[in-house]
Amino acid sequence: MTEISNVARLSEPLKFAYWVPNVSGGLVVSTIEQRTGWDFEYNKKLARIAENSGFEYALTQTRYAASYGADKQHEATSFSLALLAATERLKVISAVHPGMWHPGVLAKYIITADHISNGRAAVNIVSGWLKDEFTNFGLEWLEHDERYVRTEEFIKVLRGLWTEQDYSQSGKYYNITDFTLNPAPVDVPGRAHPEIFFGGNSTAAQATAGRVADWYFSNGKDLEGFKENIAGVVAAAGDSGRGAGGALPTLPSPRFGLNGFVIARDSEKEARDTLREIVEKAHKPAVEGFRAAVQEAGASTKDGKGMWADSSFEDLVQYNDGFKTQLIGTPEQIAERIVEYKKIGVNLFLTGYLHFQEEVAAFGQEVLPIVRELEADLARKNGVELDLSRTPAATGTTSKLVNA
Ligand SMILES: Cc1cc2nc3c(=O)[nH]c(=O)nc-3n(C[C@H](O)[C@H](O)[C@H](O)COP(=O)(O)O)c2cc1C
Repeated sequence: MTEISNVARLSEPLKFAYWVPNVSGGLVVSTIEQRTGWDFEYNKKLARIAENSGFEYALTQTRYAASYGADKQHEATSFSLALLAATERLKVISAVHPGMWHPGVLAKYIITADHISNGRAAVNIVSGWLKDEFTNFGLEWLEHDERYVRTEEFIKVLRGLWTEQDYSQSGKYYNITDFTLNPAPVDVPGRAHPEIFFGGNSTAAQATAGRVADWYFSNGKDLEGFKENIAGVVAAAGDSGRGAGGALPTLPSPRFGLNGFVIARDSEKEARDTLREIVEKAHKPAVEGFRAAVQEAGASTKDGKGMWADSSFEDLVQYNDGFKTQLIGTPEQIAERIVEYKKIGVNLFLTGYLHFQEEVAAFGQEVLPIVRELEADLARKNGVELDLSRTPAATGTTSKLVNA
């Protein structure tokens, strides 16, 4: 049995997000059938299904150039804004690269998106791994750990411009002088500003997220692997004085989001067979090309511990290591596994699927209710109550939308 970590929040229901398929080719680099579109109409319908199925967030990917089977991509911030306009409750997190944006321009853009969506805009700050995207645009490609120096300054500018008037910050990469953004972001109870997610796995990524992010997002990991990442982030947060009693009492310690590719089927055998078929039909040259490109990430770090550093061929078929989390089996098995991760401190699952519209709806109908039951049991056994008033209510209109 998994021990309950002191960062686990047993009274808070888990949150669920899905990867927006704004990049062609689906979420696995395989010729297996994927009934997933990358166009806006497909995504608009998917977003509505998701918000009616208990999903609180959607994460839009940022990619500018074709890579490993994904030959077409829609730009993340504009796509996110359109999804916000097409939905009512879903929070849409747009991935952005510091090296591609000035933080003041992004801060302004997100404030506008936040007003259009009544306080539902969020960002995922990603430091980049696809070198050619930067060098072929004529942009500087910084060495691995230096990318995180820039990212940390970038996030501080965002938070400063979203929360203060006459904001100034001087640093190595950005210099802001007496700047006030008007209007400010929407005033949403319980949220200091649009949420700042942060994706990365290396030691430098963990340290940066620990110091400045609201949310630390990781590639797929097994339980032991993710415990290590959580420990790294928590240590950095503590050292920087975040949380009650520290030098930064108004900046709570980050929460934790984990990627997992969901294969929920009627039997475990069926789910495992689907995984086997995905891997057997992997697009081998694309996966090998990806493996070469990602050497710019994990393997290029000093301690060799970054993202994809220990990924096998099978892992890389889902390019964010989503199989490692093992959300594969019957709805009961998946729900049980999800709650094991809650015990170590996971607050949010970022999920991917073969057939997004159908499987997001099925997840809401078949997996989520079991997760809530198990979470309630776990809380009660530990002397607290699960606060379901904090979950987005499922409205039951899902199947109508799927068939629409
Ligand atoms: C949940 C998550 C989402 C990510 N999304 C993107 C993305 O949309 N575009 C991108 O270029 N990189 C993305 N990344 C990759 C990061 O930018 C970074 O390159 C990667 O974490 C490798 O860095 P590391 O070795 O320091 O961990 C994402 C990472 C995670 C964990």
